[in-house]
Amino acid sequence: MPQLAPSVLSADFSRLEEEVRKIEQTDITFLHIDVMDGHFVPNITFGPPVVKCIRKTSKMIFDVHLMISHPKQYAKPFAAAGADYIVFHIESDDEPAETINEIKSLGVKCGIAIKPKTPAEAVIPYLDRLDMVLVMTVEPGFGGQSIISECLDKIAVIKAAMKEKNIDIPVEIDGGVNAENIEYCAKKGADIIVAGSAVFGADDSAQAVRRLSALIAKSPCFSKPPKRA
Ligand code: DX5
Ligand code: ZN
Repeated sequence: MPQLAPSVLSADFSRLEEEVRKIEQTDITFLHIDVMDGHFVPNITFGPPVVKCIRKTSKMIFDVHLMISHPKQYAKPFAAAGADYIVFHIESDDEPAETINEIKSLGVKCGIAIKPKTPAEAVIPYLDRLDMVLVMTVEPGFGGQSIISECLDKIAVIKAAMKEKNIDIPVEIDGGVNAENIEYCAKKGADIIVAGSAVFGADDSAQAVRRLSALIAKSPCFSKPPKRA
């Protein structure tokens, strides 16, 4: 099941439509969209209006990663803009259970993200209400950093808890993934693998997607990615 989710963070924002169109020609279906508020993380990207613009031109599954202090209050505009998944940080200021309720009430899938220093155990109480868990493999805020490989050990802890609770949702990893380490990430159990600079930093992003996907496909648990409903 492992599948690639290109992150538009490393795309050329002046040609966003073209950049997304190009990768949409490949087999992959997830698009990772990084939202930063300059407060939860020391960087700023964009808000719902930009997501809405990409939505008009793309049928991909939008995996919106909110690196913002108040995710509960912004879930509604991101849902209206066309998010399929809204993933918020457990370290943000809002109460996780309330944020989950808000996102789910909007009919959008919900994920919790954990930073490198947050233990895997932090998400376990919420697993039965979630559609995804995002394990950050770099400190959130910037693309192009090196992977913190030890974070990948959290996948097994989360999956063991899921098995115990009879829950089967994807675990996504995000940060520092490239052609050298993507097979290792798949072997460690990641179901969705985000790659920003390794895709959009390449001369030919579609070719980079195909190459990274081919490396993932070497993993024994690979199956075809789902289509958006
Ligand atoms: C970082 C973002 C990532 C980023 C990954 O805070 O959450 O999604 O785009 O970029 P790379 O793949 O370049 O590490
Ligand atoms: Zn991200």
